Amino acid sequence: MKKTIIITGANGNVGSYFAAQYLELGENLLLIIHEKDHRIIGLKKKYPKQIQIIKTDLIDLEALKKKLNKAIKETGWQPGRLIHTATKRSHDFKPLVDTDPEIWKQIVLMNLVGTFNILKSVIPYFRKNKYGKIVLFGSNVTRIGLPKGSAYSASKAGIANISRTLAAEEAKNNIIINTVSPGPIKIDDSQFSESYRKFREEYYNKNIRDIPLKRCASFEDILGLCKFLLSKENSYITGEEFFITGGKI
Ligand SMILES: NC(=O)c1ccc[n+]([C@@H]2O[C@H](COP(=O)([O-])OP(=O)(O)OC[C@H]3O[C@@H](n4cnc5c(N)ncnc54)[C@H](OP(=O)(O)O)[C@@H]3O)[C@@H](O)[C@H]2O)c1
Repeated sequence: MKKTIIITGANGNVGSYFAAQYLELGENLLLIIHEKDHRIIGLKKKYPKQIQIIKTDLIDLEALKKKLNKAIKETGWQPGRLIHTATKRSHDFKPLVDTDPEIWKQIVLMNLVGTFNILKSVIPYFRKNKYGKIVLFGSNVTRIGLPKGSAYSASKAGIANISRTLAAEEAKNNIIINTVSPGPIKIDDSQFSESYRKFREEYYNKNIRDIPLKRCASFEDILGLCKFLLSKENSYITGEEFFITGGKI
């Protein structure tokens, strides 16, 4: 039986693109969304039998476990792969010393405790089947930092280290886990505030000058690597962090 894929941040830019691609391949998906669903509503209509949507806040461990369990029971699907794209971004763009401590905590809470919660909820199913493939999303900021984004860059580095640690802990259960760390991706930013769009534009323009391939990553650039990391062909690569940065170190 094909192992179901769980995608967090499924209504996000990357999450919804991945969902569409895997649906076309005939996969069954458990899609975890937070508040918005505008990017996956059409997919639910097009592929009603291949999608189960779970609306929850990753910060709430008990709610997450309960809803995941219910979805698995209702569908009878066997989860065996996880793509964790959900994230909270920096949105005040201030140097660390000027950053509101509450905003700092909220970003770290979602990006690290949220990651802990999804792994803690999903891994018991993988252990039971002695099979699991996991991709977490970091960012190239794990190696270059992010001026005016210290909470985001710190928490993304934490995610890469969670995967290194889990790779060692779960190897005996045939669970493989890696982090994919892209540089800037060309995304739909229409939902962002004007100030955040401006921050991103400046960041992109500066970055593109330094990228040897002179462009941002596309969704396709990222999908190929993730597909391989989650495939049966990958039985030995675990605990690694992969940078998708067009040659920028
Ligand atoms: N885009 C880039 O340029 C870029 C570059 C490097 C790395 N990355 C990484 O790639 C991944 C995907 O990026 P993206 O651009 O697709 O992000 P995105 O469009 O902002 O999607 C993030 C998703 O996370 C969800 N989320 C936020 N808080 C949540 C919570 N408490 N519980 C559950 N879900 C929550 C959001 O749902 P709601 O909107 O409903 O809150 C949203 O759908 C992220 O991990 C990001 O850090 C992105």
